[in-house]
Amino acid sequence: MAPPQHRRVRAVLVLLAATALAAGGCARSDAGNPASAKDSGKVVVACGATEEWCSAMTTRFTKETGIKAEFVRLSSGETVARLQAGKANPEFDVWHGGPADGFVAAGEQGLLDPYVSANAATIPARYKDPTGLWTGVYVGVLGFCNNTKILAEKKVAAPRSWQDLLNPGLAKDVGIAHPSTSGTAYTMLWTQTALHQGADGALDYMKRLHPNVLQYSKSGIAPAQQAARGEVGVGVIFSHDCVATQEQGFKDLSLTFPSEGTGYEVGGVALVHGAHNPSSARRYIDWTLTPAAQEIGPTVKSYQVPTNPQAKLSDKTVDLSQVKLVDYDVAAAGRAKKDLTKRFDAEVAQAPKS
Ligand code: G6P
Repeated sequence: MAPPQHRRVRAVLVLLAATALAAGGCARSDAGNPASAKDSGKVVVACGATEEWCSAMTTRFTKETGIKAEFVRLSSGETVARLQAGKANPEFDVWHGGPADGFVAAGEQGLLDPYVSANAATIPARYKDPTGLWTGVYVGVLGFCNNTKILAEKKVAAPRSWQDLLNPGLAKDVGIAHPSTSGTAYTMLWTQTALHQGADGALDYMKRLHPNVLQYSKSGIAPAQQAARGEVGVGVIFSHDCVATQEQGFKDLSLTFPSEGTGYEVGGVALVHGAHNPSSARRYIDWTLTPAAQEIGPTVKSYQVPTNPQAKLSDKTVDLSQVKLVDYDVAAAGRAKKDLTKRFDAEVAQAPKS
């Protein structure tokens, strides 16, 4: 018979395994994983979607698993910079939310560790990295969030194409974020790369758009508020962020999509390289892929499309089959991110006025 301390250890391991199964459906147990020895039973999340979404996610995770969860809301480029700065002593365990091309860029710098969750089996292949570097939790499409009152005053029709956005009648009337910080804005930049067959064509389009841009904000959602307040006539943002802003009572907002095709994000989740709490982090990732976790968004006005086909859809969620999408190569977008954003900054945002 095993000595009492071994029996106790075995009982604890059985309990841990049972809790893991209860919390994450088919979530794997970390019992026996040497990494779990250094896990302090909490998870620190770099969270890339809205504050409300991040708060709802981490709160529910703690309620269901008993594992404490903290988050810091960061835009995509900020997360990569913070992960880079903390590479030797990471402040985060998990990155949750924000376009996957940012995750690819982080992976290129060795800032993420691959993890293939058992729950990823239900996520379609186009929404995950085959090596488990990132797994998709939601999909969002870019659209134009128009302040109809402002546009009527300017006698400009709501844009229905990327070409329309160049209308000189929209001078200083377009809100968009900066692609170095914002994943939303990088999605827009890469969309132009897809539409104009490469970086030169994309930057040329962005240069022509530049006189219409009021300012390049830090976070991708900021132009929704600018459009809502009437500071700009059009915000280029993810369409679900426009719907959420309409729901806050800004009834003058309308949503249109570019006829040439629009870009989309696959919002990701990933394990941070060298995470201090690796087993809690894996439990968190397992959980984010479940239908229950992916149905939380609409309760806090986040209407992205869930990646888990078993998650129920809100009637406010965009129908992807009704929107023309560009061929968006997430891996290529991620690999190009560092150089393309640098070029954007030098050649467009900071370019000397001619
Ligand atoms: C909002 C959207 C998310 C998106 C995120 C990107 O929060 O609701 O779907 O992933 O913006 O944020 P960023 O500030 O990096 O553009």
